[in-house]
Amino acid sequence: MIYAIVAYGDPVLKKKAQEVAQGTDIKTLVEDMFETMYNAHGVGLAAPQIGKSLRVFVVDGEKYDEEDESLKGFKKAFINPTIIEEIDDKWSVEEGCLSIPGIREQITRHQTLTIHYFDEEWEEHTETFSGMAARIIQHEYDHIEGTLFTDYLSPLKKRLLKKRLQGISKGDVDIDYKMKFPLVKTR
Ligand code: NI
Repeated sequence: MIYAIVAYGDPVLKKKAQEVAQGTDIKTLVEDMFETMYNAHGVGLAAPQIGKSLRVFVVDGEKYDEEDESLKGFKKAFINPTIIEEIDDKWSVEEGCLSIPGIREQITRHQTLTIHYFDEEWEEHTETFSGMAARIIQHEYDHIEGTLFTDYLSPLKKRLLKKRLQGISKGDVDIDYKMKFPLVKTR
């Protein structure tokens, strides 16, 4: 099932998401999140982006593994994750977000992190990721903490983008996937 992706301005994107009760059957949700992400050509999707305030996100960067070694085999679901450590120098890369279509900005993040999480079978993992894999994880992890990449922008940059961000909330976007806009009334 393909969900509508929640657009910038929806309160669910600013909320700290809830843990999933241990042992809950999460497989259908994870499958649907992958399907929704692929349909929108994304490399990551967090549950709040489909309107569910749960600590779940999925990633698949495999199609870019020739550009970045860290993305080899990088297709996973993260349930109740906790970032334990972020290390190494910060680096800046242009990021986008399926909830904020059309806007891309340079964002600075750590190069390496260690994360504890469960997969969709409730197997427990502690793993270290670097490069683009670490960056995608940090972006999606931010979503379950209620943080968007635009929150990191300077006050000047935010002011410059204000109109465009309001436009996104009103549905003024050019996309080929289904979205739900906070300032558009649905019947
Ligand atoms: Ni995002």
